[in-house]
Amino acid sequence: MVEIGLFYGSTNGATAQVAHMIQQSFIAYAAATVELFDIAEYALEAMLEFDQLILGVSTWDTGQLQRDWEATFAEFDALDLTGKTIALFGLGDQGGYPDTFLDALFFVADKARERGARLVGAWPVEGYTFDQSWAIEHGRFVGLALDEHAQPDLTAARIARWVQQLLTEFDLRSNP
Ligand SMILES: Cc1cc2nc3c(=O)[nH]c(=O)nc-3n(C[C@H](O)[C@H](O)[C@H](O)COP(=O)(O)O)c2cc1C
Repeated sequence: MVEIGLFYGSTNGATAQVAHMIQQSFIAYAAATVELFDIAEYALEAMLEFDQLILGVSTWDTGQLQRDWEATFAEFDALDLTGKTIALFGLGDQGGYPDTFLDALFFVADKARERGARLVGAWPVEGYTFDQSWAIEHGRFVGLALDEHAQPDLTAARIARWVQQLLTEFDLRSNP
């Protein structure tokens, strides 16, 4: 059984809740186990134990990293993530912050890539209403985009579809 490390930072609990939903989704498919790490409690160095990782971040303070990511971000620079495959998800508020929607998703993605990781889990921009986001590359969000303010009803279905995508992109279908 493949083990995936899911590292998240969450100020008011929304990203934490999504982390648990993703964990449950993988259990349902019995393709992998997902171990959760709240980065307020664990050092980022724990990422080194996993070949496949999921990172979750919300955007705060108009285009900034969530506070626990902000506090630990420098730890990335000591990590060699070469050979790791990383998928990311982000939470934001497209109605309240249409010019900085999910910006922090890009900051974490960019840093993970700089440290040598290969990124998977890009997500279509269709179905969202916003003006600007750093998190778009080549016409897609760099990870799963979730909005518990404007579109809470879509979250469960988006997670289910994204986890299906990850089964392929993490190459787990050959490891049932
Ligand atoms: C003061 C404040 C600033 C925020 N800034 C942004 C922002 O710039 N972009 C965005 O997409 N969402 C922004 N949000 C929305 C949060 O990302 C959203 O509430 C998210 O669900 C919080 O997740 P968490 O509780 O896991 O930290 C902001 C929310 C607050 C309260």
